[in-house]
Amino acid sequence: MKFTWYGQSTFIIEFGGKVLLTDPALSANPLAKDLNLDDVHVDYVLVSHGHGDHVADLETVLKRTGATIISNYEIVSYYGAKGFSGHPLNHGGKWNFDFGTLKYVNAVHSSVLPDGTYAGNPGGFVVWGKEGSFYFAGDTALTLDMKLIPLTCPKLDVSILPIGDNFTMGYEDAAIASDFVECSKIIGCHFDSFPYIEIDHDKAKETFSKKSKELILLELGESIEI
Ligand code: NI
Ligand code: MN
Repeated sequence: MKFTWYGQSTFIIEFGGKVLLTDPALSANPLAKDLNLDDVHVDYVLVSHGHGDHVADLETVLKRTGATIISNYEIVSYYGAKGFSGHPLNHGGKWNFDFGTLKYVNAVHSSVLPDGTYAGNPGGFVVWGKEGSFYFAGDTALTLDMKLIPLTCPKLDVSILPIGDNFTMGYEDAAIASDFVECSKIIGCHFDSFPYIEIDHDKAKETFSKKSKELILLELGESIEI
């Protein structure tokens, strides 16, 4: 599986022969102004919640690619009414897709769409298949619910966790989250995009290395194969 970071919580993830895009919002991120998704093929868009820094480019991508949204019932219904195809889930539910199994898991955060429409409750995704497994936490606080993931899903190879603090957990809590989900390889997201979430990279990495874990901080546009 291959992960390419486009800033904040936007990743292109190549998994199970398909291309998954998470929370597309380059246009809401000043750091991502030199990047675009214009030439990227996308099969599915995983949407964790309705905030602008997660959906700013969603309609543009859907119009261009015809990709299927995977999100909660409320978000899929909202975009369904605009003519976009989607697969609705709710917390604790999983489905076998053509790229692998995906489970929609709890996140502790808030959620509303940019036009004020109720967006249901925010979530994260655990995805697994022949080539491995990953957890994309979305925007969330540290929560004991994370302990349910190793009880209900295969062993994780990598977890994408928010580490920027202020609007989500910071890297200290994310290190505890990595214990809860029993994962030692973490890709950080949701940091540095705005002044509120700027972090000290060295301190963040050290917090994980003290636990003999690896925090991967990708450069914008950088890819990693796991
Ligand atoms: Ni949010
Ligand atoms: Mn956010």
